[in-house]
Amino acid sequence: MNVKMLATHGYMTIDYPRAMRAAVEESMRDWQNFCRSPQVTKNLFKVGDRHIDGGYVDRRDEGTDAEQKEYFHVSKDRMPHLMKIAAACGMPAFIKHLDTLLSETTPVVLDCARAIGQEFNMPKLHALAEQGRNAWTFRFLHYIGAVQKGLLAKPHIDRKEMSLHLCETHTGAQYLTRDLQWKPLDVDAGKTVLFPSAGLQHHSGGRLKALCHQVVADNVTDGEDRYSMVLFADFLPDVEFLPQQKWEEPHPPGFNYTMPQKKFVQMFVSH
Ligand SMILES: [Fe+2]
Repeated sequence: MNVKMLATHGYMTIDYPRAMRAAVEESMRDWQNFCRSPQVTKNLFKVGDRHIDGGYVDRRDEGTDAEQKEYFHVSKDRMPHLMKIAAACGMPAFIKHLDTLLSETTPVVLDCARAIGQEFNMPKLHALAEQGRNAWTFRFLHYIGAVQKGLLAKPHIDRKEMSLHLCETHTGAQYLTRDLQWKPLDVDAGKTVLFPSAGLQHHSGGRLKALCHQVVADNVTDGEDRYSMVLFADFLPDVEFLPQQKWEEPHPPGFNYTMPQKKFVQMFVSH
């Protein structure tokens, strides 16, 4: 693993352990099956809005903020609630794989946290990562191709500390370089991509920057259903972005790359 890439490229690649890739592929197949379930079944798993990291979210429901996508957040600490719902209608298969997914991905995330901590002088990063494990969230995502074209996900940075892009069925994920050029963020069966989110920029005192990224369909993938899977690794569950209406104020892509740390930390609250 080459953590120095975080400073030079803004992200790093990790060779995929075979068992981890197999677990991801199995979960993705089951997620695609779940997406074909009747809408009424999917809606049973709605837990709250898209800022509560648990359960099913249908972004088509969100009025002027609507996007043609649906996704599902699964984490260890939200399982009891999902199990209560599943008692009435059955547990979707992709959720049943959570323990396998966690046991395969946890060593990788912890190794990265240790290496990043050593390289960028954050000696407590590994311990913090371990402490946040129950809040790590897998996002299963489906862009509904027949109706959404072009820009599928607007330029943004992620919440939490680190994002691991585990699987993409199509090309089109892009990251913004430090000189503000869009480049492909290649994820394939042989490698996964890890990049800092807002929490790690905050925690590193701005030495690491939350990577700005977007998802775009091109003329080959336009109109096709697209599925992906991301792990949001939460190390500091008591530190959160300010509520959505404040931190999603319009910012240009890459606004945080040159923003002074003093100003950046004002976007967070401690619980
Ligand atoms: Fe993202």
